Amino acid sequence: MKLILFGTPGVGKGTQAHILAEKYHVAHLSTGDMLRAAIKDGTPLGIEAKKYMDKGELVPDDVMIRMIEEILSSESAKAGFILDGFPRTVKQAEALSEMLERNHQTLDRVLNFCVEEEEVVKRLSGRLTCGSCGTIYNKFYKPTKVAGICDNCGSSDLRQRVDDQEETVRQRLRVYHQSTEPVLAYYRERHMTTDIDASKSVPDVTAEVLKAINGSRNGVH
Ligand code: AP5
Repeated sequence: MKLILFGTPGVGKGTQAHILAEKYHVAHLSTGDMLRAAIKDGTPLGIEAKKYMDKGELVPDDVMIRMIEEILSSESAKAGFILDGFPRTVKQAEALSEMLERNHQTLDRVLNFCVEEEEVVKRLSGRLTCGSCGTIYNKFYKPTKVAGICDNCGSSDLRQRVDDQEETVRQRLRVYHQSTEPVLAYYRERHMTTDIDASKSVPDVTAEVLKAINGSRNGVH
């Protein structure tokens, strides 16, 4: 299985990618998570990326393309992958097509998650992530059972992302429309997209995603 989960910030890509990766035993490749790990480790990449991420801007294409190239040729991606957050520009999409061709791999589907913009602003303002195990919560939709404690690992390190402040979220949405939306046209022209109504509850979105995957099952392996 080789999928791209596509859509605006906060549409639920990470949530669904996590569920699918567990179900199908494939790698969840989130470029945002990789960059945040680099920031946490204080690597040169992390220091450089933070300047862009905190402002809601995109990290330069050459950096991102190198990052994905490395991970796609690694053992962890051999059984399949779910790309979450990449490609985000047409240049990245073209580079991905070339990489896959070189590796004799084909993409199965691009799932385009659709939600009203004000709803994603609400989702992002309510998002909390466990700093210890990475489980994602939401103050409005998916609170922890005990306030301030991760249900999964018991950590009290629940964090709000710096770029989830409303002004930065609105900038990320502007960047999405300007630089990332054209990627959708790139894949639509190649008849590779399926729209997903991601405004439903998490289980209902998962059900729609599974239907889309099974609908194109001939090509998904
Ligand atoms: P990244 O981390 O990729 O952020 P994003 O794409 O903006 O996506 P988010 O993680 O904000 O949202 P999501 O769709 O995954 O939603 P989630 O499932 O968490 O990128 C961050 C930054 O890194 C970028 O701005 C850029 O600077 C840089 N970057 C990354 N990749 C790059 C690239 N390729 N090129 C250049 N720069 C790059 O859900 C959000 C919230 O909603 C959660 O609280 C969740 O619990 C809740 N939720 C989820 N689904 C539902 C539902 N169905 N109903 C109700 N609530 C829900």
